[in-house]
Amino acid sequence: MFLITAKLSIIAVPVLLKWIVDGLDVAPDLRMVPLALLVAYGALRLSSTTFQELRQIVFARVMARTARLLTLQVFEHLHALSLRFHLNRQTGAVSRDLERGMEAVTDLLDWTVYTILPTLFEITVVCIILIQAFDWTFAVITLATLATYVAYTFVVTEWRIRFYRAKNEANTQAAGRAVDSLLNYETVKYFNNESFESRSYNLTLVAQEEAEVKALKSLAVLNVGQSVIVATGLTLLVWRAAEGVVAGALSLGDLVMVNAFLIQLAMPLNYLGMVYREVKQALTNIENMFALLHQQRDVADAPDAVPLQAGGGGIQFDNVFFSYESDRPILRGVSFEVPAGQSVAVVGTTGAGKSTLARLLYRFYDIDSGSIRINGQDIRSVTQTSLRHAIGIVPQDTVLFNDSIGFNIRYGRVDAEAEDITEAARAAQLATLITQMPKGLDTMVGERGLKLSGGEKQRVAIARTILKNPPILILDEATSALDTRTERRIQAELEQLAKNRTSLIIAHRLSTIVGADQILVMDQGRIIERGRHEDLLAQNGRYAQLWTMQQHEVPEPESA
Ligand SMILES: Nc1ncnc2c1ncn2[C@@H]1O[C@H](COP(=O)(O)OP(=O)(O)OP(=O)(O)O)[C@@H](O)[C@H]1O
Ligand SMILES: [Mg+2]
Repeated sequence: MFLITAKLSIIAVPVLLKWIVDGLDVAPDLRMVPLALLVAYGALRLSSTTFQELRQIVFARVMARTARLLTLQVFEHLHALSLRFHLNRQTGAVSRDLERGMEAVTDLLDWTVYTILPTLFEITVVCIILIQAFDWTFAVITLATLATYVAYTFVVTEWRIRFYRAKNEANTQAAGRAVDSLLNYETVKYFNNESFESRSYNLTLVAQEEAEVKALKSLAVLNVGQSVIVATGLTLLVWRAAEGVVAGALSLGDLVMVNAFLIQLAMPLNYLGMVYREVKQALTNIENMFALLHQQRDVADAPDAVPLQAGGGGIQFDNVFFSYESDRPILRGVSFEVPAGQSVAVVGTTGAGKSTLARLLYRFYDIDSGSIRINGQDIRSVTQTSLRHAIGIVPQDTVLFNDSIGFNIRYGRVDAEAEDITEAARAAQLATLITQMPKGLDTMVGERGLKLSGGEKQRVAIARTILKNPPILILDEATSALDTRTERRIQAELEQLAKNRTSLIIAHRLSTIVGADQILVMDQGRIIERGRHEDLLAQNGRYAQLWTMQQHEVPEPESA
C-alpha cells in the first residue's frame, strides 16, 4: 500500500503541472487556483518520498531476515557435507561465494519488490492516462519504446553475463589462493617463497582484472544502446505533442504533461534495464551459493536410520574393503573385533591405513564392501549424530579453534561445569602448564592452536575427549608428540580412561601398547599379525622385529 501510494503521488505530479500551466495560460492574473495547485504539487512530491521511505522501513526486516536464514542454511549444509568435500574445498573460495550470495539475495529482493513491480505499475497507469487524454499514437510510441528497450536489454545482458560470471570465478579463485597462502605463512617463510606466492596470487588477480574490464566495457555498450532507444522514443512523443499544440488539439499544459510523464518514465525505464542487469548479476552470485546447497552429501543418514544403542560399545570390522579414490585400494579385507570394554592396539607401517580405520568407524566415509558394526548394529543403519556421540577421538593431528584453552577443552562437552574442565585438564597433565600461564585457562591458543607446543595441543585434545566421556575411545597416536616421561604419566590416565571402555589405540611406540588385549599389525591395508604382546613376540614375525628395533633405541633416563 505504501508502494502504491508513493507511485500514485508520482504519477499525479505531471497532471498537476498541466493544470498549473493551463491555469496560467488562460488567466494569467487569477492567482488563487494556481497557488493551491502549487501547494498540492509540493505535497505530492513530498508524499512520494515519504511513502517510499515508509515502504523501506516496513520491508527492511523481511530482507535482512531472508538473507540471514539463507546464509544460515548454507552454513548448516556445509557442516552436513562429508569430509571428502571439505578436503577438496578451498576455505577462502567457499567463504567468498557465501558472502557474495548473501549480498545478492538482499539485492534481488530489493530490485524485484521495490523496482520492477512498481515500475510496471507506473508504466501501465501512464499508458492509460495517455490513451484517455490524447490519441492512441502516444500509447503506441510509449509501448514500442518500452518493448524495444526490454528486448535490447535482455539480449545484451544475456551476452555480457558471461563476463560477469568469469569475473566471479576469478574473484573466487583469488580469494581461495590468498587464504591458502596466508594459512601457510610459516611454510612460505621456511622457503623464502614470498615472491613466488605474490606471483601466483597476481596471476589470479590478473584474470580478475581482465574479466572486470570486459564486464565494464560491455556495460558501456548496454548503457549507450538503452539511451539511444529512450531518446528516440522521447523525441517522437514530444514531436507528436508539439504537432497537437500547433493544430490546436492540445493545450500547452498537455505538452508539459506529456514531457513530464516521459521524463518520469525514462527514469524507471533506465532503472528497469539496470534492474535486469542487477538481477542477472545477483542470480550469478547466488548461483555459486546454491551450487554449494546442491552439493550431494555422499555420507547421509539412511531414511530409516535409528539412534545407535552403543551399550558397551563392542566394535566389529568384517571383511572391510575401502578406497578413497577408486583406483587405489587402501583397506583390503580387514576383519577384527574389539569386544566391549576391551582395548585393541593397531601398529604398522606408515600409510598402512591405521588412521583410515578410525575415520571409517567415525563414518567420515562409507566403505566399499564388508561391514562395520558397533554393539551389533551396522553403522550405516544408525544416525550419524548418535554414532559420533558414542565415539571420542584424539586425532593424529590436532587442530584447535582460535580461542582460549578453556574454550577448546570445553568443546568436548559445551555444557560442562568449570570443575569438570579443571579435572579434565588435570587428567591430561595440563594443570602445571595452566598454572604457569598468567591467564590460565583464558590463554588464547592462536590460529589453529599454533601458539601451543605440539605436545600441549595433543594434551588439550586428550582433555576434551576425557570431557566428552564416550563409551568408545580412539587414540590415534595420541601421545606421539610427548616426551617419554609425560607420556608415561598420561598413559596412566589414559589407561584409567580406557577402563570399562572399548578402545582402539593406534601407536608407533610399541612400549605404550604392551598391555593391550589384542594387537593388530597392519601392512598395506591388511592385518598381517594379531595377538597379545607375548604371543606376537613368540611368533617372531614383523612385530617381534619392530620390538627388537625399538628396544635398541636409547631410552630416556627416567627419574622419579
Ligand atoms: N582423503 C584421502 N584421499 C586419498 N587418499 C588418502 C586420503 N587420506 C589418506 N589417504 C591415503 O590412504 C593411505 C592410508 O592413510 P592413513 O592415514 O590411514 O595411514 P596411517 O596408517 O594412519 O599412516 P601413519 O602411520 O603415517 O599415520 C595413505 O597412503 C594415504 O595417502
Ligand atoms: Mg595415521
